[in-house]
Amino acid sequence: MNPFRLFPVEASANAHAVDTAFFVIMGISVAICLLLFVLIVTFAFRYRRGSRVKRGPLPDILRREIELGWTAGALFLAIFIFWWFAGGFQNPDADDARNVIIHVVAKQWMWKVEHANGAREIDALHLPVGSPVELEMVSQDVIHSFYVPAFRLKQDVLPARYTKLFFTPDRIGSYHLFCAEYCGTQHSRMTGEVVVMSAPDYAAWLANQPHGDTLVEEGGVLYAKLGCAACHAAHAQVHAPKLDHLYENTVTLAGGEKIVADDAYIARSILAPREQITAGYDPIMPSYSGVIKAADVQALVAYLKALSRGEADE
Ligand code: CUA
Repeated sequence: MNPFRLFPVEASANAHAVDTAFFVIMGISVAICLLLFVLIVTFAFRYRRGSRVKRGPLPDILRREIELGWTAGALFLAIFIFWWFAGGFQNPDADDARNVIIHVVAKQWMWKVEHANGAREIDALHLPVGSPVELEMVSQDVIHSFYVPAFRLKQDVLPARYTKLFFTPDRIGSYHLFCAEYCGTQHSRMTGEVVVMSAPDYAAWLANQPHGDTLVEEGGVLYAKLGCAACHAAHAQVHAPKLDHLYENTVTLAGGEKIVADDAYIARSILAPREQITAGYDPIMPSYSGVIKAADVQALVAYLKALSRGEADE
């Protein structure tokens, strides 16, 4: 291996786009810099004190046409760069059924990962090559940042808020995972390894992991244990919103605002229920912030999602 690497390897489709953008913008900047440098030196020499050259007002064509020309040219160049790269960055569909969905919980000072079948790992993330991956991330305590240089990706991971990351690894190998947000004493040691494997290897690896309950099963257990059904079930005495068709449906809030019940909305409703009261209901739900862990919120969200899709029972 090359001991001196200026750039980390490119291990995702998105990495090529980022590097192309970097080099194109760098090339244009260097060219403009050189042009300015040459002009400064030339004029400094040509118009030095005492030199016998023509001075006075500039010819009209320089003052108008050329001035307007380069101003418009620079403007269009900037717009072109924006248009080219803003469109080029990978932004796959969040509802893509092919997505490998993986849940990540960040906490001081580790990365906890849970795969769809319930397999868990710490400070490691195994992925199949060539499949679109969707990470659903949340923090248990402070702000962390999920950073994989080989993928050219960095995403903050926040307490009580879900952030997602989409990418497609396209190179088999092992890459560094860093926390890129100062999060306390051991921040610099909050690292891990991302292992990109061939699809059959990944399937074999996944099957060989000891797996506990899946997130949905875990969520179902919590739902029962926390007594959510006492208020939210169809036959409950307490007047509380029903949850069996909540996910991805529109909720009207007390203020009249309409909001789609996605992962983030449900998580907020558990942790800070009084911020988003559904129209027609009293603000009686207690907050579960500090009562349950971030991973539990993830499990409850996964359970309610499955419930709405008819993939779980109440
Ligand atoms: Cu977590 Cu820095």
